[in-house]
Amino acid sequence: MELILSPSILSADFAALGKQIESLEKVGVEWIHIDVMDGMFVPNLSFGLPIVSSLRRITSLVLDVHLMIHAPERYLTRFIDAGADMVTFHAEATDDIDKCIGIIKENGAKAGLAISPGTPYDVVVPYLDKIDMILCMTVEPGYGGQAYMKEVEAKISKLRELAGEDMLIQVDGGISPDNVIEPIEAGANVIVAGSAVFNGDIEENTKELAKCAGLLSETEE
Ligand code: DX5
Ligand code: ZN
Repeated sequence: MELILSPSILSADFAALGKQIESLEKVGVEWIHIDVMDGMFVPNLSFGLPIVSSLRRITSLVLDVHLMIHAPERYLTRFIDAGADMVTFHAEATDDIDKCIGIIKENGAKAGLAISPGTPYDVVVPYLDKIDMILCMTVEPGYGGQAYMKEVEAKISKLRELAGEDMLIQVDGGISPDNVIEPIEAGANVIVAGSAVFNGDIEENTKELAKCAGLLSETEE
């Protein structure tokens, strides 16, 4: 099964964002995770459309946009127009999951459905045939740098069993070289990490995370 690293720029230095993306490209990263927060669905505010369009101009990496916003149907088209390749919204944030998936697909992007740690796996089950990715949050959404919630692994395993080998199952929150293997063993194959990548030397951190995830052999270091 393919394994993907998607570093979250929530922990990036925004005054040096272009250079930091170059560092990720240099060590072979293929996805960038972009956390959009509205101060309503989650208490925190982050950034929005201009960051997506600026990144689209400087990189061909997959732009993996994680919308932590209330009523995401209001903004899906605009994020895709700005350059998002994958748009993930929260099941808890909308009254019409089908409508959101429909808008994303009609506009040519891939659709991800996210669930917070307290949301049961069966919320996702009716949509398995329509989505490209499930995001199982391993922290309460809203902030970088929180502790990994190991109890989410049971949900990841169950969803892997139900969704099959081809589904992308993303994990997001509290992931570091010390624990990255745990969600992978539970069935995750898209790994988001913010502080573990951006705090310190980005290239070294990414290589260390990739090595601990089993993506890089000793000789490639
Ligand atoms: C949290 C965000 C995460 C966050 C992860 O709500 O969805 O993507 O940036 O940060 P770390 O890896 O530091 O927990
Ligand atoms: Zn995220």
